[in-house]
Amino acid sequence: MTKTIGLICGSLRKDSYNRIIAQSLKNMDDSIQFRWIEINELPLFNEDLEKSGTPETVTSFKSSIQGVDGIIIVSPEYNSGIPGVLKNALDWASRPRESSVISRKPVGLIGATPGGLGTVYAQMQIRQILETMNVPVLPFQKVLISQVHEKIDANQKVLTDERTKRYLQSYLHQFINWIDHSLVLD
Ligand SMILES: Cc1cc2nc3c(=O)[nH]c(=O)nc-3n(C[C@H](O)[C@H](O)[C@H](O)COP(=O)(O)O)c2cc1C
Repeated sequence: MTKTIGLICGSLRKDSYNRIIAQSLKNMDDSIQFRWIEINELPLFNEDLEKSGTPETVTSFKSSIQGVDGIIIVSPEYNSGIPGVLKNALDWASRPRESSVISRKPVGLIGATPGGLGTVYAQMQIRQILETMNVPVLPFQKVLISQVHEKIDANQKVLTDERTKRYLQSYLHQFINWIDHSLVLD
């Protein structure tokens, strides 16, 4: 059956390299449906806001998550960690814990940076956070894209590096094949 994959980008930057990488996934397999799950309009998480009635942007964010078979997060690293906007979105998705829309949702992780370590620290943190939320993350495989500025055409906003394209395509297929086997036991 056709799988629908949600794409979350951990950068809000207009010319984000990570968004270009996420966008490139969409051209890699016509049998997969992709949907952007935007996080830029979410308010800062505050338990008081939850109590006074969930904001509309949060409701629509949560229903986007509910409507997909899995999520691929493509994120930069800020100061050796997870970008605040992504953490904020994951916190909203995790609430309330008893009916969390992200619990048990299979997730794949990709990160890109102009630096040399490929977002390894951010990805370690994201895995730890998702584990707490009862979210299975594709094990073993890591996609750490370093020197990303040399692998894309910044004007056309496309990924050009063939090796990276092949690796991403292979990761995408592993993710799709794993989705139906990813669920943790109760
Ligand atoms: C506040 C801040 C902290 C950063 N810290 C890191 C870091 O720890 N590791 C890293 O590889 N790049 C770091 N960078 C550089 C980002 O990788 C770079 O800005 C990248 O282009 C951001 O991703 P984007 O293009 O998808 O927006 C940092 C950038 C900012 C703005």
